[in-house]
Amino acid sequence: MTILIKGGTVISSTGADLAEVLVDGETIVALLSPGSDLAVSAEGGAEKVIDATDRYVIPGGVDVHTHMSLEAGGSVSSDDFDTGTKAAAWGGTTTIVDFAAQTFGENVRECYDARLAEADGECHIDYSFHMVLGDVNDASLKEMDLLVNEGVTSFKLFMAYPGVLMSDDGQILRAMQQAAGNGGLIMMHAENGLAIDVLAEQAFERGETGPVNHGYVRRAEFESEATHRAIQLAKVGAAPLYIVHMSASEALEQVAIARNNGANVFAETCPQYLYFNLEDHLDQEGFDGAKYVCSTPLRTKHEHHQDDLWTGLRTNDLSVVSTDHCPFCMKEQKDLGINDFRSIPNGIGGVEHRMDMIYQGVTQGEISLARWVELCSTTPARMMGLYPKKGVLQPGSDADIVVYNPNHSWTISVDNHHMNLDYSAYEGITVPGKVETVLSRGKVIVEDETYSGGKGHGQFVRRGLSSYLI
Ligand code: URP
Ligand code: ZN
Ligand code: ZN
Repeated sequence: MTILIKGGTVISSTGADLAEVLVDGETIVALLSPGSDLAVSAEGGAEKVIDATDRYVIPGGVDVHTHMSLEAGGSVSSDDFDTGTKAAAWGGTTTIVDFAAQTFGENVRECYDARLAEADGECHIDYSFHMVLGDVNDASLKEMDLLVNEGVTSFKLFMAYPGVLMSDDGQILRAMQQAAGNGGLIMMHAENGLAIDVLAEQAFERGETGPVNHGYVRRAEFESEATHRAIQLAKVGAAPLYIVHMSASEALEQVAIARNNGANVFAETCPQYLYFNLEDHLDQEGFDGAKYVCSTPLRTKHEHHQDDLWTGLRTNDLSVVSTDHCPFCMKEQKDLGINDFRSIPNGIGGVEHRMDMIYQGVTQGEISLARWVELCSTTPARMMGLYPKKGVLQPGSDADIVVYNPNHSWTISVDNHHMNLDYSAYEGITVPGKVETVLSRGKVIVEDETYSGGKGHGQFVRRGLSSYLI
């Protein structure tokens, strides 16, 4: 099918242009000047014309940190590949990179194959995987090389969760050395897990059992120390480093120092760390704070972590916004920790709201329109080896396109979201813009408040090496 998107303003990571986007089949074939001969004849020949007057036309969102059906803390995250990717599409995200995970004692290849099979035929939008290495040993190091050749070019390591996922410094260094050799990107969950567990146990023994204690014991110092350590190890291992879900100013400072010294160190943050805080969200009467239990945790408002993160997004010390979408229902999931914050499954569902929440940063004067697209689409695609297939509107790229109405405010609620989640962490927030039309590889999947996608449309994407490293 040929589709012409006309009348809109195309926003890219470098600016805004009045342009018409011509799609043939699954691919963008041209960007045309409005009113030009080519545009007029394209309109005559197109099978479908989408009127984007007064709208922004942007590359589909690329969310490089999601957890569909993640097994954690005795629960499984409540969105599977079907429900989670459909919700992502509603929110203007057209590609996700999720995780396949090896935990201690498991075989990397078996874990990867099982995850690939789990997602096969289930996704509404294109998807790919990072590989979690929870047991770095000779066999897993060899598998890293094979996976890179199969399009799995990034590997997440944990400095937290001892006994389950945590790697010690020697293992981290070995994985970094391997990545330096095979071109992979090491992603790091940077929190000092052993130290956190000491404080968590002490808090529990003092009878401090509520959700807010999750935030108190996962101290900013522990995020900052682990970030610093990861950076030093990456320097010795001569490997690039991407730090996930950054929430603390002190950790961001470590990244800024490293980058100022020329290191290939990158970091992402997530909407929850920009808009939520410990005092208002985690520290609530009763058990409602459990809705906001995630790791790294929400940080205090009075110490201005949120402002510092916005600054980092402007300076590029934070180069990506992902969601770390990891939803657990309050009923029968979060409530496992009603008497002990250590048993609350960690994670917040937000895959549907990233484009809107970060657009709100534009209207609040925190970032530019171009930076919105860069943070949510172009840089994640480049960082994770998806570019220029994804993350950009240019001839030859996949026709993953969002028509965004910047003048349609609406209020987020559990009653109107599409995630399989019995609450919304974003309940009651009125966002200034709305995703109106979504194309995934040339297929219109959201239009006129109606969903016309389907599971199985989404394809696995073999990724190349990070554009930042070649
Ligand atoms: O709380 C979180 N972030 N849960 C998902 C797992 C992780 O560490 O990213
Ligand atoms: Zn993590
Ligand atoms: Zn995560």
